[in-house]
Amino acid sequence: MSFAVIGGTGFKLTDVFDESVKELIDTPYGKAEITSGDYKGHKIYFLARHGFAHTIVPHLINYQANIWSLKELGVESIYASAAVGSLSKNIKPGDFILPDQFLDFTKSRRCTFFDGINKELKHTDMTEPYDKQLRIALTKAAKEKDIRLHPCGTYVCTEGPRFETPAEIKIFKQMGADIVGMTGVPEVVLAKELGIKYATLAIITNYAAGITDSKLTFEECLEEIKKRDKLVMEIFMDAAEIGGML
Ligand code: HPA
Repeated sequence: MSFAVIGGTGFKLTDVFDESVKELIDTPYGKAEITSGDYKGHKIYFLARHGFAHTIVPHLINYQANIWSLKELGVESIYASAAVGSLSKNIKPGDFILPDQFLDFTKSRRCTFFDGINKELKHTDMTEPYDKQLRIALTKAAKEKDIRLHPCGTYVCTEGPRFETPAEIKIFKQMGADIVGMTGVPEVVLAKELGIKYATLAIITNYAAGITDSKLTFEECLEEIKKRDKLVMEIFMDAAEIGGML
């Protein structure tokens, strides 16, 4: 069973792989930048969502090429990391959360493989966007670590690259959102459309705009991730083992 890790903002591939190779994979949607590595004798794929050089802004990420390439490589499950802001004082910077629902407030993205032009007309069920089995394995793996994990929550995806206004955050909170990020959608949707199991482990990097008096900086998000990317990779590998993928 092949699986992939998608690394989000600030997430560097730590030295988990015995050997790794970077390659550009051609897809009908463009190229995807994939690192393949060996871990305990298994081939695992790593995709840096913002590119090898970490320069691709959220609304310009080629989500279609990324997910298509993983499907072509035979990936059946994806563990994705994400940096998110918190809409609640109970969910603090440094905490982790496993979203189980999302709200989509993106605007300009290619959001489906079923765009209807000479293609199959298909509506994909989104009752359970994030895979239950993967979330259970992540919960078990995270329990072994000294972290605060929120087992579920609603992720609202905004277009970015700007942060939200306090007025927007107030509305999202009234709609039931717990965390906010810029990259979770359409990634989760595209994976679902291709039948790839997908789960996100999100790291709270800040309180969202207006939740506290502080202004937001990208640097504080990066700082929080830098402290935790190794831990997140360990959780992904342990979860893969628990889930029978290794
Ligand atoms: N808003 C949107 N995306 C984010 C945030 C935020 O507050 N923090 C980290 N990614």
